[in-house]
Amino acid sequence: MYFYPSKFIMQTLLITGGAGFIGSHLTRLFVQKYPHYKIINLDALTYAGNLSNLKDIENAPNYFFVKGDVADAALVNKLFAEHSITGVLHCAAESHVDRSISDPLAFVKTNVVGTATLLLAAKESWKADYSNKVFYHISTDEVYGSLGSTGFFYENTAYDPRSPYSASKASSDHFVRAFYHTYGLPVKISNCSNNYGPYHFPEKLIPLSINNIIQNKPLPIYGKGENVRDWLFVEDHVRAIDIIYHKGKIGETYNIGGHNEWTNLNLIKELCRQMDQKLGREAGSSEKLISFVKDRAGHDLRYAIDATKLKDELGWMPSLQFEEGLNKTIDWYLSNQQWLSDVVSGHYADYYEEQYHKR
Ligand code: NAD
Ligand code: TYD
Repeated sequence: MYFYPSKFIMQTLLITGGAGFIGSHLTRLFVQKYPHYKIINLDALTYAGNLSNLKDIENAPNYFFVKGDVADAALVNKLFAEHSITGVLHCAAESHVDRSISDPLAFVKTNVVGTATLLLAAKESWKADYSNKVFYHISTDEVYGSLGSTGFFYENTAYDPRSPYSASKASSDHFVRAFYHTYGLPVKISNCSNNYGPYHFPEKLIPLSINNIIQNKPLPIYGKGENVRDWLFVEDHVRAIDIIYHKGKIGETYNIGGHNEWTNLNLIKELCRQMDQKLGREAGSSEKLISFVKDRAGHDLRYAIDATKLKDELGWMPSLQFEEGLNKTIDWYLSNQQWLSDVVSGHYADYYEEQYHKR
């Protein structure tokens, strides 16, 4: 008998949140790399979801879009009933810490209730046969809390979420593990560090700063800019998800990180340096836009991932050095200024006003 590796087995995958930042890179990778998979993208198209992120693949024969909410049980159950879904890649979430501070319940609804709704639908639909099924939950390193100046997050680090966002993601992770232990649902989880790259919504530090440098607007840095994040290029993240989805062990958690720690201040200085060169501005001119603003409430000091398990078990490592990834990212934003101005219009303009000018 001929043995087909799993990547050649016909599958129907439900990707949630596929119109967002990471979701769009993940959807593109799977649609293009696995033309024999049917990919259904379920996305509510909140402010963060944008179908133009997927323009290049929207007509692919194996790609289907459904507009809807992951917390809508009737819709989710219908999708499972009508399509023989074999895998879920659950990316949909409310993802911005600052928004979670002003509207925590929106995070409970999407991140907790939405995840539990999908888990229940998968359990019901797959209960006759869990073989060759995977529920993959995409999560964040923020569930582990905040580090001091040393140490790393490991897969067995105790959860200690400190923002409404990380609390909602921690809760969703617990539900995923509970469904594995209680019902035997075949799950996988990954917890990744901060991503950056094309299609990143400009409410997050790097794209917000790129947009403001282009427009010669102040660069808001919370507190003294001493907080540390571990940055990973988004295409390296979705490559890790692909490997874990196909080769990772059921019931396991994998940390994904860049081994790439930067204080916010140093990161913004490096961004300013590269952008001055690209925009033909005098060296040091963008740095003058740095503006220290009131700190984020409960601001986690430092995140740093130990991704040794993923390297040792599945051979994944980041492929890009940060300077190179940042260079690619800046070039993408400079070549896609229409995308940038489209997404910062409308509701986002109101949010920006509220967040930075009325505090
Ligand atoms: P994003 O905010 O850019 O995109 C979220 C997507 O989910 C959007 O397309 C949005 O329309 C959709 N969505 C939101 N609520 C929904 C709902 N109720 N039903 C259906 N769709 C809904 O987020 P992102 O940065 O791409 O993050 C994706 C996932 O990766 C999240 O689960 C996040 O926690 C996780 N993650 C993000 C990072 C990061 O640095 N961005 C790092 C680690 C993990
Ligand atoms: P962010 O991109 O919101 O990601 P997260 O909070 O999930 O890590 O923020 C990254 C870091 O940048 C974080 O320490 C907060 C800080 N920050 C600023 O200093 N100014 C800003 O305007 C924003 C959005 C973030």
